[in-house]
Order: sequence, then C-alpha cells, then structure tokens
Amino acid sequence: MHSTTAPKNQCVLSGMRPTGALHLGHYHGVLKNWLRLQSEYKCFFFVADWHALTTHYEEPGIIGENLWNMVIDWLAAGIDPSASTLFIQSRVPEHAELHLLLSMITPLSWLERVPSYKDQQERLRGRDLATYGFLGYPLLQSADILIYKAGWVPVGEDQVAHIELTREVARRFNYLYSNKRPIFPEPAALLTPASKMPGLDGQKMSKSYGNTIALREKPASIEKKLRTMPTDPARVRRTDPGDPSKCPVWQFHEIYSAEDTKTWVQQGCRSAGIGCLDCKRPIIDAVLAETAPFRERAQEYLERTEWVQDLIEEGCAAAQRVAQETLREVRQAIGLNKKVRI
Ligand code: TRP
Ligand code: SF4
Repeated sequence: MHSTTAPKNQCVLSGMRPTGALHLGHYHGVLKNWLRLQSEYKCFFFVADWHALTTHYEEPGIIGENLWNMVIDWLAAGIDPSASTLFIQSRVPEHAELHLLLSMITPLSWLERVPSYKDQQERLRGRDLATYGFLGYPLLQSADILIYKAGWVPVGEDQVAHIELTREVARRFNYLYSNKRPIFPEPAALLTPASKMPGLDGQKMSKSYGNTIALREKPASIEKKLRTMPTDPARVRRTDPGDPSKCPVWQFHEIYSAEDTKTWVQQGCRSAGIGCLDCKRPIIDAVLAETAPFRERAQEYLERTEWVQDLIEEGCAAAQRVAQETLREVRQAIGLNKKVRI
C-alpha cells in the first residue's frame, strides 16, 4: 500500500475486467485490499466490461458469461454492497461521453507511450490489437476515474502508468476549461502489493498458466489439485530427502502456515522424515478453511440472484447519478450546455 495516507473524504474507485473466474491470486492481491478499503472510504467498484471488449471483441460471449460470476465472486469474498457501490461500466454510458470529450484533448503520443500498449500487443499476439479502442483503453480508464472524481485508485504495478496518464489528462482539462476551481482532482494510485500467491506449479497464480484455484472451487477439486501438485523434483522416492526452497508446496506454507508448521516442514523434508502428502495436509486444510466462507456466501447469493441483480441495478443508478452530475459540469465548462442563440 502507498505510504501516503489518503484523505478520507475522497472516494476510491477500481474496476476489474470480467474475463474469467476469480482465483486465490485475485483474492490475496486485489480483493483483500478492497475489503480493507471498503470500511474506510466511500468505494466504487465496477465490472469493466467495455475494457474487456478492447481485447476480447472477437469473443464477447466470454464477457457476458463472466460478468455475473465476477459480481458473485466479489460478494463471496466479502465485498459489502451496503458499504460500496457496485456497478457495471456499460450500464453507465456517461463513461463513454467523457471518454469522447477527453479524447479531443489527449495527444496521441500520450497514448502511444503508455507501456502496456506495446507490451500487451506483444503478449497477446494471437489477437489483433491494432485497434482504435485498444489504443484508447487507458483514456477510457481515465474517464472511469475522473467521472467519479475519485481520489484513490487501488491498482497493481502494471496500471500505474494509466493513473499517471489520468493525472496528466485531468491537468490538461482543468487548464483548458476550468475557470475558477479545477473540475477534476488528480487521482493517486494506491499500489496493491504484488500478490505473493503462488500457483500450483510455483509460478505466479494466473489463468494463463492454468495453475489456479478458483475462489469458489469445490472442496474435492481443491483437494485433488493440491494432492497432485508437483513437489521438489529431486524427491522421487519417499526416502529421498528434499529441499523446500525447490518446492512449490513450500510457497504455500509461506502464505498459510504458522512458524511451528514451517519448522516441521523444513526438518521433515530435509531429513525425509515426512512424506509430501503429509506436508500438503496442512495446506489442503488451510485452503479449504479459507475458501469455505466464499462458497457459503456464494451459495446464498446464487439462491437470490434477483436480489443480486437488483443490487447491481441500484449500484448502476447510484453511480449514474454521480456521473451525470460530473458530465453536467464538464459540458458546462466546455460550453456545450449553452442554449443556442440564433
Ligand atoms: N484496466 C484495469 C485492469 O486491467 C481495469 C480498470 C478499468 C480500472 N478501469 C479502471 C482499474 C479504473 C482502476 C480504475 O485491471
Ligand atoms: Fe515439498 Fe513438502 Fe515434499 Fe518437501 S516434503 S518436497 S516441502 S511437499
């Protein structure tokens, strides 16, 4: 987390792209952070479905499939809808109008130099991302933030350049169009510490590596995944000593186990005193215990899908009221509100 303490009167805003089921990497990285923020600030959390479309425009079905599951995942993780406003980006089309207006004043070079632009094009080679929408993606994010005049934006390291762009755009807008006080505050990134959550293979947990445990994964599946996950490759037989520093299971102990268990692992592994399945048992128990409330809450919400839909409906309406007010000021500042005199 950023070292500055954020003034409490400014709101927090963050969005997530609905491109797949959330997993423990999201929980330990992003969601735990949101949970903490929601009790301290007015928070807006939204499903960034238009953002998902910038990369997944050829398979828009994925977005619809994941959208409601993501809302359920958030609620399952403990996001409190009575404390935070939850909504869907495309249901507040004011974001698009602000994006358009900001696009008028944003130099092309500012967008071209955002590092994620070239990086993502490299990484997602299978997709044609030489589109106008993809280039404008960080500016859409700026509109998302500025339309709520958010002061604080919890994001990962990869998004910091987008917040920096947002600050520059806000400054330029204020310079061009505000006469007395600036219309847009400059938001700050609340840097989410990189998730240390390892995947089942010891690499970072990520959908693209296929090494995840979903937030709402069934207990039998969690158990199976952990029982079959790889260990120190040098430990072929039960009698071979191993080295925890070469074993993905150890990384799970670092997250989930107390000191005494960690000592037991270190000694037992190096002396071949314990087997790998013994070693995995406390991890299996810990992951099952951590995810149990997620499954329970999700179950409750899945039995009340109408309630969830109403909740999002209300969230969209509440967000829209704020967004409309900002847009009114913006139109006024640019002079788009004036009655025509002929
Ligand atoms: N671009 C963000 C991501 O890929 C998602 C996002 C869209 C976002 N709009 C935002 C995050 C506004 C913070 C604020 O993760
Ligand atoms: Fe890994 Fe534990 Fe087996 Fe050692 S005993 S190799 S740390 S699973």
